[in-house]
Amino acid sequence: MSNYRTVAIEKEGAVTTVVLNRPEKRNAMNPLMHREMNEVLTEVERDPKTRVLVVTGAPPAFCSGMDLKEYFHEVDDVDAERHINRRIANEWCDRMLRMFPKPTIAMVNGHCFGGAFTIVASCDFALASDDAVFGLSEVNWGNLPAGLVSKVVATLMPYRDALYYAMTGKTFDGRRAAEVRLVNESVPAARLREEVMALAEHLASLDEAAVRATKEAFKQVVDMSYDQAYWFLMSKSNELRWRHQQTGRGGEGIEKFLAKEYRPGVSSFTKTGK
Ligand code: ACO
Repeated sequence: MSNYRTVAIEKEGAVTTVVLNRPEKRNAMNPLMHREMNEVLTEVERDPKTRVLVVTGAPPAFCSGMDLKEYFHEVDDVDAERHINRRIANEWCDRMLRMFPKPTIAMVNGHCFGGAFTIVASCDFALASDDAVFGLSEVNWGNLPAGLVSKVVATLMPYRDALYYAMTGKTFDGRRAAEVRLVNESVPAARLREEVMALAEHLASLDEAAVRATKEAFKQVVDMSYDQAYWFLMSKSNELRWRHQQTGRGGEGIEKFLAKEYRPGVSSFTKTGK
C-alpha cells in the first residue's frame, strides 16, 4: 500500500480499515483527502486479501464534513476548481463506496457533520458510539445540505426527522442516530471497535459471491418497478449460479443441507468446516 498524507490504512485478517486521518482538523475532507480516498479505495478493491472494508476517523472525530477553508472558501471564485472538488468528492463518497464490491461498514467514532453523512449512508452498515455527535450543520453557515446529503438523509431517515435536522442544524448523538435509522446500532465507545469487527468477521465468513450479488441486486432494485426488479433479480441470480459453477461451488450449500451437515436457516454452508 502507498503512503498517504490524509488517510491511514490498518489491516487485520480479512478486514481493512481506512482511517480519515487529519485529527487536528477533525478529519475535515480537503481536496487532497478526496484525491487520496479515490486511490485508497481503488487499492483496497484490488487487494484480494480484503473481504470487508471499514471506514472510520482518527479520534476524536469521524469526519467534520467538507473542509470549510480548502474545499469551499479558497475556491469560492474559481469555478473549475469548485467543480473538480465536487466531482472527486462525489466519486468516492457516493459512487465508489455505495457500490464497493466488498461489504462496507462505517464506524462512527465521533463528530460526523454535513458531507460525512454521505459516507455513512454509502456504507452498507453503520455503527456509532453512543457519544458520537451528528449534525447537518450546513444551515448554520448559510448553506444547504448539498452534494447528496439531502438525498441520503431523505432516503435513510424518517421524513420528519430528516427535515428537522436539516432545517434546524441541531446536533444529535449516536443513540438518536440509531433511533432514526441513520446507523444500524449505537454502542458505548469502548465497545465500538469490537462490535464492528464482529460484524466484519461474520460478513467475511460468508460466501463472497453471494454477499456481493445480494448487495448489488438490493441497491439496484430499490428504484425499480416490480417488473423491472423481478427480471433484474432473476438475471442476477442466474449470474451468481454461473459464477458458482465456474468456481466449483454451485449447489454446494443445498448439497450440504441435504447431507444434513448444517441448517441454512441458522448458519452458512461456508462454516461447515471446508
Ligand atoms: N473544515 C475546516 N476545518 C475544520 C473543520 C471543517 N469542517 N472542522 C474542524 N476544523 C478545524 C478547526 O478550524 C480547528 O482548526 P485550527 O486548530 O487550525 O483552528 C480544528 O479543526 C479543531 O476544531 P475545533 O473547532 O477547535 O474542535 P472542537 O472539537 O472544539 O469542535 C467541531 C469540533 C464541532 C467539529 C467544530 O470544529 C466544527 O463545528 N466544525 C465544523 C463542522 C461543519 O460544519 N462542517 C461542515 C459540514 S457541511 C459540509 O460538509 C458540506
